[in-house]
Amino acid sequence: MKKFVDVSKHVKWVGVVDQDIKTFHGEELELSNGTSYNSYLIRDEKIVLVDTVIQKYSREWLQELKEEIDLDTIDYIVMNHNEPDHSGALKDLMKEIPNTPIYCTAKGKEIIQAYHSIDAEFRIVKTGDTLELGETNLTFVEMKMLHWPDSMASYLSQDNILFSNDAFGQHYGANALFNDECDQEILWDESLKYYACILTPFSAMIKRKIDEILSFNLTIDQICTSHGVIWRKNPLEIVTKYMEWCQDYKEDQVTIVYDTMWETTRKMAESMADGIRSKSPSTHIMLMNACKYSETEILTEIFKSKGVLFGSPTINNRILPSMAAVLEGVKGINFKGKSVGSFGSYGWNCRSVGIINDLLNTTALTVVNDGLKVNWNLNKDSKEICFEYGADFVEQI
Ligand code: FEO
Repeated sequence: MKKFVDVSKHVKWVGVVDQDIKTFHGEELELSNGTSYNSYLIRDEKIVLVDTVIQKYSREWLQELKEEIDLDTIDYIVMNHNEPDHSGALKDLMKEIPNTPIYCTAKGKEIIQAYHSIDAEFRIVKTGDTLELGETNLTFVEMKMLHWPDSMASYLSQDNILFSNDAFGQHYGANALFNDECDQEILWDESLKYYACILTPFSAMIKRKIDEILSFNLTIDQICTSHGVIWRKNPLEIVTKYMEWCQDYKEDQVTIVYDTMWETTRKMAESMADGIRSKSPSTHIMLMNACKYSETEILTEIFKSKGVLFGSPTINNRILPSMAAVLEGVKGINFKGKSVGSFGSYGWNCRSVGIINDLLNTTALTVVNDGLKVNWNLNKDSKEICFEYGADFVEQI
């Protein structure tokens, strides 16, 4: 396990870095750079443990924690969020210190009891409630639905630390703990991917919550998240990024995501890309075969796009399963402020374009046309039609 690291006068990082993990939320999210489960120890006149770690590290983590501190001296446990990646070790911890009060939201208590059958002294907190620790105090801020109903953040005075839990995190199991010590390209790619795939559905609430936190005029020297790095250098840079990302974020990018059986739908996609290029050479085009990229990669590229084209041939009156999964993901993420279109090849029954449009019409995306169908194979004329379709699409968005 990575050695525990001092964060400030009163705070030590006592988390776990998991560099082996390849998927998260079961198999739903693909991780490229591991992750960490960040737990923190606050030592003042009172001693507080903020969040625990995932269950699979419970024993190792507790062993390390016992070498760091006599567990019986911990006065309070603060559980900012109780998804099992943060509460998984709580049951084992509570066996060691059963009388230690747990500070959490009302929903947090409900989740802890339902998931872990823990019977403890719960102290329910709301926004603005404060816990005196000595020189410092902790103030709680409810972060309901960011991204679970129990989520909250805690602010430590004097050291000026915001324990933000999942917010502002990233799945990055870096060797370094602080944002100024790690690879910047990976850090920002992972931060964006994390926002795109986990937080986009809650964007409207994120804007309101950030506005609320900023209205408190707190001095924030560090943001201690529950995954990835601690934002020590220019900590508000990630907050500014979130304000961009939560307001229908888009770059000058078009993503064409498709699957293909006998290459016609791929050829359509490529001709559309040529058409886009002809009208808008600076637009970044991502051509993504849905079978060759993970859903995480595809949804991240869609997040960055101002326009998206979805393509599938028809098979057995339906679309190819890889595209059905992508569209289900798009619907779940609830993207807004993007223009979309559809296309697909067919032999004797063209259902795919209608199926894609029906699904897109249930989202907040703007469907800009009826879609494009090509029978059997691309010829000179239909290739030109695909080219024009791409050119028209980029001019419309
Ligand atoms: Fe990192 Fe929502 O748990």
